Amino acid sequence: MAFSIQWSCFLSLLCLLIQGDAVWCECSLGGMEIEGGTFNLSNGQNEGSMLRYHCPKGYYPYPELAYRCQVDNQWTPAHSRSRCKRVECPDPTVLQNGHISPIHENRKYYYESKITYHCYSGYTLRGPFRRTCLENGKWSGSNPVCQHDSGDCPDPGVPPGGSRSGNSFEIGDKVTFKCRRKMILMGSEERECQLNGHWSGSEPSCYYKHTYDSPWEVSEAFGGDIKNTLSSNLVNKTQQGLSIKLRRNGTLNIFIAVDVSESINEEDFQNAKVAISTLIKKIEEFSVYPKYEVIFFSSKIRTVIDIQSFYGSNNPTLKDLLDEFENTEREDNYGTNINAVFNQIREKLGVIKIRDTRFSEHHHVIILFTDGGYNTGGAPTDTVERIKSMVYMGQPQQRQEHLDIYVFGIGTSVYDDNLKPLTVGTGGKSHYYRLEGLDKLQQTFDEIIDEEDVRGRCGLHRAYGDLYDSKEKRKNFPWVIYITVTTNGETQKCLGSLVSPRFVLTAAHCFKNKDSTATLEVTSGHLLDVETVHIHPQYNITAKVNQGVKEFYDYDVALIELQQDVPITISLRPICIPCTDETNAALKQTFTCNQQEDFLLQNRDKVTFLTKTDLKEKDAHLKLGDDRYNCIKQALNINQTIDVTQVVTDNFLCTGGRSIYLDKVACKGESGGAVFKNHEGRTIQVALVSWGTKIMPKCQYDQLVNSDDDSRDFHINLFKVLPFLKSILGKRDESYAHLVFID
Ligand SMILES: *[C@@H]1O[C@H](CO)[C@@H](O)[C@H](O)[C@H]1NC(C)=O
Ligand SMILES: *[C@@H]1O[C@H](CO)[C@@H](O)[C@H](O)[C@H]1NC(C)=O
Ligand SMILES: *[C@@H]1O[C@H](CO)[C@@H](O)[C@H](O)[C@H]1NC(C)=O
Ligand SMILES: *[C@@H]1O[C@H](CO)[C@@H](O)[C@H](O)[C@H]1NC(C)=O
Ligand SMILES: *[C@@H]1O[C@H](CO)[C@@H](O)[C@H](O)[C@H]1NC(C)=O
Repeated sequence: MAFSIQWSCFLSLLCLLIQGDAVWCECSLGGMEIEGGTFNLSNGQNEGSMLRYHCPKGYYPYPELAYRCQVDNQWTPAHSRSRCKRVECPDPTVLQNGHISPIHENRKYYYESKITYHCYSGYTLRGPFRRTCLENGKWSGSNPVCQHDSGDCPDPGVPPGGSRSGNSFEIGDKVTFKCRRKMILMGSEERECQLNGHWSGSEPSCYYKHTYDSPWEVSEAFGGDIKNTLSSNLVNKTQQGLSIKLRRNGTLNIFIAVDVSESINEEDFQNAKVAISTLIKKIEEFSVYPKYEVIFFSSKIRTVIDIQSFYGSNNPTLKDLLDEFENTEREDNYGTNINAVFNQIREKLGVIKIRDTRFSEHHHVIILFTDGGYNTGGAPTDTVERIKSMVYMGQPQQRQEHLDIYVFGIGTSVYDDNLKPLTVGTGGKSHYYRLEGLDKLQQTFDEIIDEEDVRGRCGLHRAYGDLYDSKEKRKNFPWVIYITVTTNGETQKCLGSLVSPRFVLTAAHCFKNKDSTATLEVTSGHLLDVETVHIHPQYNITAKVNQGVKEFYDYDVALIELQQDVPITISLRPICIPCTDETNAALKQTFTCNQQEDFLLQNRDKVTFLTKTDLKEKDAHLKLGDDRYNCIKQALNINQTIDVTQVVTDNFLCTGGRSIYLDKVACKGESGGAVFKNHEGRTIQVALVSWGTKIMPKCQYDQLVNSDDDSRDFHINLFKVLPFLKSILGKRDESYAHLVFID
């Protein structure tokens, strides 16, 4: 709840006498207002409530980000007048062998300041030459260095706001970093020049109290780490010359602990639930099935998901796990007992160790979210040491990769110095992150799946992003391919979809002039070299001319074979197509082909296709069963005297019109594009855009064009052209990897 200042003055007069004869008073809001900003209370003026300040973009609350209402009805920490201060970035004038410009008075650099780096002659600049102070209190880009060839390792630089001791960069040399007063050092305090010419640990930076990690920064580090953990389960991967010891059937135990003490408000709590559900679902999308323990804690511990149930006879399913979550209520509790969390994890590990003789092969990930330092239950450092020794089994060097502990300091009043030492990472990397709020967590987790390494999984895509940035947007629809056919100066544009690294699916009518002078351009943004085009053998546009059908589009489907596999990236990945093993995996089912069809094609189901340039989503609804005839009969506008089912054969799906749902219509240039459905984070193509009854005038602007009463679109139903798809995509012993079709 947000309070205006007048309102808060009024509330501060309240002092209630209730609950029998106990006198119960509240923390006063008098003097708590902030100059230039607003505040929110997590639980009114009651004991345990958090008061959090909010400032406009580019400002932060000073001196404290938040206060807590204590038992004695005083705010803690001791309160002084608050105001919104401009976000400041650490002093960048620490560059060695060069200088920056401009130099500001008192070397203070605020939000939106821009600086340029210059190196002295004989030194070359490594890193960006221009940086901007961002709203999270960090400089954009990486830390530039003025480099001079000397030493086995590159110059490790100096973090803005900090200093370095050690100027020799030969193998075995160590350098240490410090931050100025009132700043905390994130990353490695000490780094060593290693045999491979790299520094150990991670790049240090100096944080103010108001400095945060943005979701993409966290996901870059955290996502990368967890991805390695997950993919080591999938493949026998070699990382930095170390072979990861986990096998295909190795076990991954993930412990997630979330602080739900009084300082976390209901909204945070809901955000945390959403984020954890998302994380569990995402991990499942890798087709990896770790064992989970989820703990909510304050001074007490509540086990939401017990890892032991995974070691019992009934493995919980994803649905069970998420249902548990839906039904988890919040209960207010004081205190933050992190030690109890680690103790519980230690005990669970102990039980697993006894039960499972392959414990030594297990990999463990502990992820802790908290917004405060531990204030009950004592310091957890010893417990963490005991967990380490249980996992390391006397070989801390060799077994490091079996344990990762991540700590996320959330939002206000984080006690970095307490939390930082609890993290455990491979190779001295820091696993401590500071997030602005739990709402940023979901985005952070979302980033994790979008990794290029999860090759071959069809239909994976990013489910959010900047819809105004075409590069970002492509990640939502990474299968989209643009096709241009030029014959005698006349061009025909179509869309297509990547269905395997080697093949693009599109409409046959895009190649109507199949003479040798035609040129074909196939692009995903990068031009792709075409080997050949396979047109459905039964496609014949003139087949029914004699019956009065001028253009007959049955079997309007073609596969473009590329010269080589496209590199699968976050922006270019295949879509799922019907009746393949992979689509079953995406649906998490063991369907037969017919069952897939029943599941995916139901009357009035929503399907989507895209506009040709900006990839805007157009929704339409399938008309099947009793609705079908009404839909297809509009095709008679073309020639009233013929049997409509001769024109619109059973191989077409029909959408359009305004009855029940107002559908969007397909436009010229969108032929061949995928008609798709999304299912739990995966995209499945069910049809492709073929032809329609009307050309709508608004189509030329690449807009979302509404259907009118009699506009209809007909899409080739992929379930009806499976023999063709299978004959090419499923063919074994070709130079390309085949798709496995189901019966
Ligand atoms: C304060 O809380 C209310 C509801 O809890 C929320 O709608 C509002 O966005 C919050 N204000 C800020 C600035 O976060
Ligand atoms: C996995 O890695 C080990 C050690 O590097 C190697 O000997 C083995 O052949 C690999 N197995 C597979 C299936 O690649
Ligand atoms: C995988 O599991 C099977 C049985 O569950 C076992 O026989 C096999 O040795 C395991 N493979 C590895 C590499 O651990
Ligand atoms: C297409 O159909 C027409 C009419 O039946 C026929 O004359 C023609 O040979 C067919 N073309 C092909 C390529 O099969
Ligand atoms: C409609 O189809 C009939 C044959 O069924 C044909 O004779 C007639 O020319 C067609 N009309 C048009 C406008 O195409």
